Order: sequence, then C-alpha cells, then structure tokens
Amino acid sequence: MPIHYHTNHPITVDQFIELLRASTLGARRPLEDRDCMAAMISNANLTITAWEGERLVGIARSVTDFHYCCYLSDLAVDEYYQRQGIGKQLLRETRRQLKPDCKIILLSAPAAVDYYPHLGFERHPQAWVLLGDKAI
Ligand SMILES: CC(C)(COP(=O)(O)OP(=O)(O)OC[C@H]1O[C@@H](n2cnc3c(N)ncnc32)[C@H](O)[C@@H]1OP(=O)(O)O)[C@@H](O)C(=O)NCCC(=O)NCCS
Repeated sequence: MPIHYHTNHPITVDQFIELLRASTLGARRPLEDRDCMAAMISNANLTITAWEGERLVGIARSVTDFHYCCYLSDLAVDEYYQRQGIGKQLLRETRRQLKPDCKIILLSAPAAVDYYPHLGFERHPQAWVLLGDKAI
C-alpha cells in the first residue's frame, strides 16, 4: 500500500505514543506523562505525518516561525517501515513548508547520529541546551 503524507493532520495522543514506541524513540520521550504528550501535539505548529491507509507510520514534529528557524523535535518512523525513505520524505515535506533560508535545528538521538549527516545536516559546534531543572 502506498504511503501518504499530511501536514498538520490531527492525531490522537494514543496514536502519537504508539508510534513513538514502535519507532524506539519512545525510550527517550516522556510517554507516561500524557499532559506533556498532549501538549507536544497541540502546541507544535508544523507536524508532517506519514500514513499507510489509516495507520500512522511516521512523524516529523516541529516548532517553527517558518522564516528563520525550525526546531525539529521528533522524527520517528515505525520500525517495521524504516529504511524505505519515509524519514527522508518527512524531512522533505517539513522543508517544503519553510521559507528557503529557514534553518532546521535538532538534537539527534544516539541511534540517529549518522542519519542526519547522511542527509546533509551539519554538526554545530556552538549549540547549547539549558535543561529544565537548571536555574538561571
Ligand atoms: C532515524 C529514522 C527517523 C530514519 O527514518 P527512515 O525512514 O528509516 O530513514 P530513510 O529510509 O528515510 O533513510 C534515508 C537514508 O538514510 C539512511 N539511514 C537510515 N537510517 C539511518 C541511520 N540510523 N544511520 C545512518 N543512515 C541511516 C538510509 O539508508 C537512507 O540512505 P539512502 O538515501 O542513501 O538510501 C528512523 O530510523 C527512526 O525512527 N529511528 C528511531 C527514532 C530516532 O532515532 N529518531 C531520530 C530522533 S532525533
């Protein structure tokens, strides 16, 4: 069956959680915190999803201003569907929604550190993260 891609198509919290689990990214996301998972869906402003029929098989979830920067928080493809070009297409569709000079910024999961350079991403030596439990 062909894979279809949608932009900002509604998904349920359960579909999101199930996909993250099926992709292995769930091990690095707060799946037990439903409020957080629901907010991740409802407050993202660019979500591309991949579907085989009614089945959600991939997601690229971003927060962006569409002009200057786009933070790609979650890129996940169901393990059964990996290595078929779905992740790449989710990134292409994300890019298509952004202005030409808009940068995509992300933190790679350990399993994907070789994936992003393969698709043309460059490592940024001046990237910084402030963890939620750190006071300023
Ligand atoms: C990383 C992930 C999104 C890639 O999606 P995918 O649909 O399997 O990848 P694609 O089929 O689009 O792969 C595109 C290219 O990257 C290569 N590739 C795929 N996974 C790779 C990996 N982990 N490391 C290096 N290269 C990889 C493919 O061989 C393909 O190469 P080609 O274009 O030369 O043929 C998917 O494997 C996944 O969900 N992994 C678990 C969750 C995760 O780590 N997500 C990233 C969070 S930051």
